Amino acid sequence: MPGVAGEAGLRTAITEMFGIRHPIIQGGMHYVGFAELASAVSNAGGLGIITGLTQKTPELLAREIARCRDMTDRPFGVNLTFLPAFTAPPYPEYIRAIIEGGVKIVETAGRSPEPYLPPLKAAGVKVIHKCTSVRHSLKAERIGCDAVSVDGFECGGHPGEDDVPNFILLPRAADELKIPFVASGGMADARSLVAALALGAAGMNMGTRFIATKEAPVHDRVKQAILAASELDTRLIMRGLRNTERVLNNEGVEEIVRIEREKGAALTIDDIREQVGGLYQRIMSEGDVDAGAWSCGMVAGLIDDIPTVAELIDRIMNEAEQLIRDRLVGLLGEAKPAAKVA
Ligand SMILES: Cc1cc2nc3c(=O)[nH]c(=O)nc-3n(C[C@H](O)[C@H](O)[C@H](O)COP(=O)(O)O)c2cc1C
Repeated sequence: MPGVAGEAGLRTAITEMFGIRHPIIQGGMHYVGFAELASAVSNAGGLGIITGLTQKTPELLAREIARCRDMTDRPFGVNLTFLPAFTAPPYPEYIRAIIEGGVKIVETAGRSPEPYLPPLKAAGVKVIHKCTSVRHSLKAERIGCDAVSVDGFECGGHPGEDDVPNFILLPRAADELKIPFVASGGMADARSLVAALALGAAGMNMGTRFIATKEAPVHDRVKQAILAASELDTRLIMRGLRNTERVLNNEGVEEIVRIEREKGAALTIDDIREQVGGLYQRIMSEGDVDAGAWSCGMVAGLIDDIPTVAELIDRIMNEAEQLIRDRLVGLLGEAKPAAKVA
């Protein structure tokens, strides 16, 4: 009989570090990571994350944090993304909102979080930095991050420029890192979680999978687009700008690909700004899914339902337990006498 998810549970360095029941994190997602989703994930025993920069000002982030606290008494985090932005946000003020809001976990991503670590550390905030390579993971460890989210080439969003998929990246990270890490990119179900643990991770981070849940506060057309997509339906854009992003293919993305081909090495961000800049609200909230580029992982090919977050997490934990007990332990079989060699 499958166990009730979390009764015995899977305890890892990540569940211990963040004070959560299950080693499952919901990665920050622009215009998806609102309090509704973050609190649902935390209430289900995972770690929900509010996307800091989706809130247009530090004051609005403070309000979102307060809203999330009203919806859950479990730990949740805030994502701070340091990507090349068209105009740089006031990061120190966002950090103040996080600290004053009593948030104890921050997921950083993009450029090195080093300049921002001192105030976070002084406030006792645990920092998990998202990295797409072993060298960046080692740097995160060296500068004092508490954990790393290792994001393979499969991932939705920004996979970096090395193109190393998780079957290689995760064991490489396990060989080198001393701090715990979670597997990110291509994670969808119990098979992903058990495989991630086998490869040395202490849990998993999911993005795309969490968008196709009842609580994700996005338009139904976004969820249906993920359900309809196969693993062949993502595209890599902005390679030439060394700001590669994996997005769901659509008419807007085909236009980007066309422009990128036409411009070749002369491509600048201005050539595609219309299709990549400032569209998330229109896409996620209004459901204009063909308007332009939006991040989506190859894992879309493994997603074919829209459960509640609790159903999803319970299913993952129950099936992970079954997978370990019935399939993996079962494979060990009975010890057999060694065959006689003639
Ligand atoms: C729609 C969408 C928006 C995202 N926005 C952000 C973001 O603002 N900051 C960030 O660090 N990661 C962002 N990500 C990446 C996710 O946090 C996560 O690392 C990634 O989705 C993992 O790969 P998966 O989609 O295969 O699960 C985004 C991903 C998606 C799908």
